[in-house]
Amino acid sequence: MNLKDTVALVTGGGSGLGEATARELVSGGAKAVILDLAASPGKKVAESLGDKALFTAADVVSEKEVSGAITAAIAKFGAIHIAINCAGIGRAMRTITKEGPHSLELFNRVIQVNLVGTFNVIRLAAAAMAKNQPNSDGERGVIVNTASVAAFDGQIGQAAYSASKGGVVGMTLPIARDLSSMGIRVCTIAPGTFETPMLAGLPDPARQALAAQIPFPHRLGQPREYAALARQIVENAMLNGETIRLDGALRMPPR
Ligand SMILES: NC(=O)c1ccc[n+]([C@@H]2O[C@H](COP(=O)([O-])OP(=O)(O)OC[C@H]3O[C@@H](n4cnc5c(N)ncnc54)[C@H](O)[C@@H]3O)[C@@H](O)[C@H]2O)c1
Repeated sequence: MNLKDTVALVTGGGSGLGEATARELVSGGAKAVILDLAASPGKKVAESLGDKALFTAADVVSEKEVSGAITAAIAKFGAIHIAINCAGIGRAMRTITKEGPHSLELFNRVIQVNLVGTFNVIRLAAAAMAKNQPNSDGERGVIVNTASVAAFDGQIGQAAYSASKGGVVGMTLPIARDLSSMGIRVCTIAPGTFETPMLAGLPDPARQALAAQIPFPHRLGQPREYAALARQIVENAMLNGETIRLDGALRMPPR
């Protein structure tokens, strides 16, 4: 799909991988609708993109808020052609700890935001995309999700996070099949370790240790590299139903 005159909904677009993708898509000619939490920097990011962007405060878990964001996006820009799912949270806890078993509330929360939230956005965005006129290739929309290498090599303490991201990988093909008759493609990116505010919370030695595990390039990924792949997925009509690792050959060890 050619980016020119398209409209992209980017969840988690206020920070990190989502922000970089919103900027990349706008630089290619798209309009960006940044869906993020009210307390996020999403509004500032949208303002920095001028009339090519709109900020909509919403929690991906909420049916009402995501529907409202899509309605606002269509009112402002006329349609939604692209949905990029970058909203997500990372929380670590071992299955049993000295204090007792893993918090069920925490497990549920991570699944809700990363998996249920992603599906909520997919289903509502796809319903809007289904109303688009197809382009010359028959395409009505493209959806890009964000999993993690933790979907495949989850580390100690990542039961909830890995389960949520494994769910995103698992639903990629069936959703691509569901939406194929509408001309809507679905792919997932499974990033390794990227230099975003999510990782900025870690102390420097921990970040360096993470970078040291990456065979080549021997450094953390940059958000622009994620954005470049998201853009390629949008532009390349043959990419569909697949999860693509973006990790410099990283295979996470147990800890
Ligand atoms: N940074 C990495 O190394 C890395 C690696 C693998 C996967 N990922 C995944 O990439 C995605 C983006 O991560 P990032 O590193 O850019 O993180 P980030 O913290 O910089 O950005 C995440 C954004 O999601 C938003 N968000 C969180 N919960 C939300 C909710 N319920 N509703 C709406 N928005 C919400 C946050 O406000 C934030 O703006 C996440 O799904 C994360 O799990 C990141």
